[in-house]
Amino acid sequence: MFRILPYILATASLCFGAAIDANNYPRAAEEFPLANPGNVVAHDPNILRDDDGSYYLFKGGMGITYYKAPKLSGPWDEMGSLLDGPSIIPKENRTRPWAPSVLKRDDTYYCFYTVSLPGSKDSAIGVATTKDIKKGVFWKDHGAIIQTKTGPGSSIFPFKGSNAIDGMVFIDHDDKAYLNYGSFRSGLWQVRLKDDLTALPDIKKPDFVHLADRGKEIRNDIEGSFMSFHDGYYYLWFSQGECCNFKDDFTPETDSKPYSIRVGRSKSARGPFVDRNGVDTTKAGGTVVYATNNDKKVFAPGGLGVLAGKNGERDVLYYHYLSKDRGTKFQDAELGYSYLEYVKGWPVAKKD
Ligand SMILES: *[C@@H]1O[C@H](CO)[C@@H](O)[C@H](O)[C@H]1NC(C)=O
Repeated sequence: MFRILPYILATASLCFGAAIDANNYPRAAEEFPLANPGNVVAHDPNILRDDDGSYYLFKGGMGITYYKAPKLSGPWDEMGSLLDGPSIIPKENRTRPWAPSVLKRDDTYYCFYTVSLPGSKDSAIGVATTKDIKKGVFWKDHGAIIQTKTGPGSSIFPFKGSNAIDGMVFIDHDDKAYLNYGSFRSGLWQVRLKDDLTALPDIKKPDFVHLADRGKEIRNDIEGSFMSFHDGYYYLWFSQGECCNFKDDFTPETDSKPYSIRVGRSKSARGPFVDRNGVDTTKAGGTVVYATNNDKKVFAPGGLGVLAGKNGERDVLYYHYLSKDRGTKFQDAELGYSYLEYVKGWPVAKKD
């Protein structure tokens, strides 16, 4: 027995250790794998995989620029801009919409975009559509869906107090559509959209959900929400920290930490979302799935999206990232991507 007991104990603790290992959930920055390079300069990239398997990448800039590639690693063919001039939303800077987010429903492509200025709350999320995604074919601009600070609905909660930036639309299995948006101020929000995806059913009575918030005591530096679905769970993703302003020693110029990619999950698209420790994302929860790694070869990844794997392929997490090898300026951001494996329903980033 004396010989067996330690053996049993050792086995028991081994099992326990193995159970934790089996979780294989990376906690430290060193454990995150290098990004697969997308080989295209992009900040807040958004990617659509079309029915024919080709990829489209959309990014902010004059008229919203987009690219096409046969693979995520490129080569990316520049397709031009999708808007034929400034957005019809009468706000600055309507010549350079931000953070496009594109989805395809039936035969129509929808591009949700932001009009704002850095640090401004005078913002709007608009939408443009096309049925023909082709070089030289401009999309039809439908203008603003929601607005903050000025414009229709801006005095109504939750638009009052939030910032209408970084829109992303999620269509649930029951075909109900939700616009997720926001950052800083009062955090991330979700409002129900009309079926045509170009407006709210009633801007005066928004059907809203508070998605995520870090609280009033600290810099509420969360933005760029994205929603995905995998095996029974809805995942609320966002970027937390400083995206763009870093000193030469890699520390943020703001009272913040470099961007990292976080997630919470729920059984409903309307939440509540909790992180791996059970902390609600409206109470500063959010499990880190990807962050600075490999001695800053990958630095401050964020501005992410998830491509759902088809036909047994894995989901792909894509993002922009900076690198000590390239630099930490805004224009140094490039597309990167990782494969997602789910451990007990929690996504883990893998290189291969
Ligand atoms: C808006 O963008 C255009 C084009 O880059 C630029 O010329 C203009 O100064 C910008 N306006 C503001 C208010 O930043």
